[in-house]
Amino acid sequence: MNDFLSLRTLPRDQVQNLVNLARELKANPINDTLRGKVVGLLFMNPSLRTLASFQAGIGQMGGTSVVIQPGTGTWTLETRDGIVMDGPEVEHIREAIPVLASYCDILGIRSFANQINLDEDLADHLMHKFADLSSKPLINMESASDHPCQALADWQTLDELDIPADGNFVLSWAWHPKPLPYAVPRAALTMAALRGMNITIHSPKSHPLPDELVAEAKALGAKSIRNTHTANESLENAHVLYCKSWVAPQNYGDPEAEMRLRKNLREWCVAESWFETAWSDAKFMHCLPVRRNVKVADEILDGPRSVVIHQAENRLHAQKAILTNLIN
Ligand code: CP
Repeated sequence: MNDFLSLRTLPRDQVQNLVNLARELKANPINDTLRGKVVGLLFMNPSLRTLASFQAGIGQMGGTSVVIQPGTGTWTLETRDGIVMDGPEVEHIREAIPVLASYCDILGIRSFANQINLDEDLADHLMHKFADLSSKPLINMESASDHPCQALADWQTLDELDIPADGNFVLSWAWHPKPLPYAVPRAALTMAALRGMNITIHSPKSHPLPDELVAEAKALGAKSIRNTHTANESLENAHVLYCKSWVAPQNYGDPEAEMRLRKNLREWCVAESWFETAWSDAKFMHCLPVRRNVKVADEILDGPRSVVIHQAENRLHAQKAILTNLIN
């Protein structure tokens, strides 16, 4: 593995090996795998879990981290090519990334979708540009349309909960005050598909996922995949509901149209009543951060179904497995 940009480009066995290694590292957390090594962490967007879990993990492995948050004590970065840089951005990634790579043994980069061009974002154009500019292995810490660190931790969580590899996985839309991109839903779909699960996409009719992502999940090995629109049907015999909001594909790049489309969808807030037809101990997953009583009710987050803290903890172990693989 030269970079860790997506689970989609890795053989299934390699992903399962990373999960198994993450579970070993969870049992034996301290080692010196990164002694004398430096990991650069560039955050073009905010974070809590990714920032803290990478720094904690690197510390547990005897390494050092350098955190760069452009505009917060470091220069703002321009990502567009061929631009006259007479605006607020001070430095171009064409210099910044090779410079950072020269100081570090591994780089991690977070760079969200700008939600202008759907095809460009689905191709993860900017993350691949970062990889081309870096002479060192690159970890995708969430890009325009993927979040593989989250996906690996989620796979580990499902294994630890004994959710069957061919169990019933529901990816559910929920209302949110902003149009969100496809990074987490795509990562969750990829993970469930590679695991061989039966996937249900539960969303309003107005909010399917892009056809490309559904076709991709089929090709990656989903046992089955369908799109349904009522909780009773979608959650029938569900083992897990994974909640995320996303922009309707037809409104990508048009936030005003999207807000008009979703203005009557506020009732799409996950509640206990959604689980009537699910397995009695079906789990609730969310990558966090989550808006309480907007996307999901307190009764779920504070109840026995929720595994959101378990998921977040596993970010630490999954990322240590990725770092171990890349440094070796
Ligand atoms: N799930 C996740 O990536 O959390 P942060 O945005 O807080 O890093």
